[in-house]
Amino acid sequence: MNYNDIVKERRSIRSFLDKDVSTELIYKLLDYGHAAPSAGNIQPWEFIIIRNEENKRAVVDTTFIGRDEKNGKPQEWMMTAPVFIVVCGNQEKVRQRYGDTSLDSILYLDTSACIENILLGAVYLGLGSCYVSGFRKDELVKVLRLPEDYQPIAILPIGYSNEVPYKRPKINVKKIIHFEIFGEQRS
Ligand SMILES: Cc1cc2nc3c(=O)[nH]c(=O)nc-3n(C[C@H](O)[C@H](O)[C@H](O)COP(=O)(O)O)c2cc1C
Repeated sequence: MNYNDIVKERRSIRSFLDKDVSTELIYKLLDYGHAAPSAGNIQPWEFIIIRNEENKRAVVDTTFIGRDEKNGKPQEWMMTAPVFIVVCGNQEKVRQRYGDTSLDSILYLDTSACIENILLGAVYLGLGSCYVSGFRKDELVKVLRLPEDYQPIAILPIGYSNEVPYKRPKINVKKIIHFEIFGEQRS
């Protein structure tokens, strides 16, 4: 697969075959994630791997559909994935280098670069995934018994796709490219 196909064919996958994903492939995905750029090269990501059904259940119970954090139903589709990767940001690594200013933004920016590498890597390896951030953070921290400095950023269900993904429309790229001059043309 060339880069063009990987980027253009990636879609959020929300239904998976009942087929396991080898630990070798999971390690490859994490290696791709770990190759991402980060501010000051601090690499503030931590990965939690979950395969056990009960643990997956507990994680899914922290999720919600839509915007209603409190009453939204859990994202049940996630249970069809054989593996979850929870990508966390390590606040201590950011703090050591940058202090408390921009702590959250650096954490989110760095881990998002890492997450995109994993999502594209999944396509390359014939797998599917989805960036899931609809979860109650405090609850997930408790369920995973995360150390104080680990902040969960995304849950990535990983598996072999069981759907022909809907190609969500994208805005025409020409509409969002701006060449040097904004507003009125200067004479
Ligand atoms: C930060 C972020 C959070 C997201 N959270 C969720 C989520 O909680 N559940 C879900 O089903 N999809 C989630 N998505 C996936 C988006 O819905 C999806 O990327 C978007 O609709 C575009 O579709 P595509 O990924 O197939 O191109 C999230 C995506 C991003 C980037």
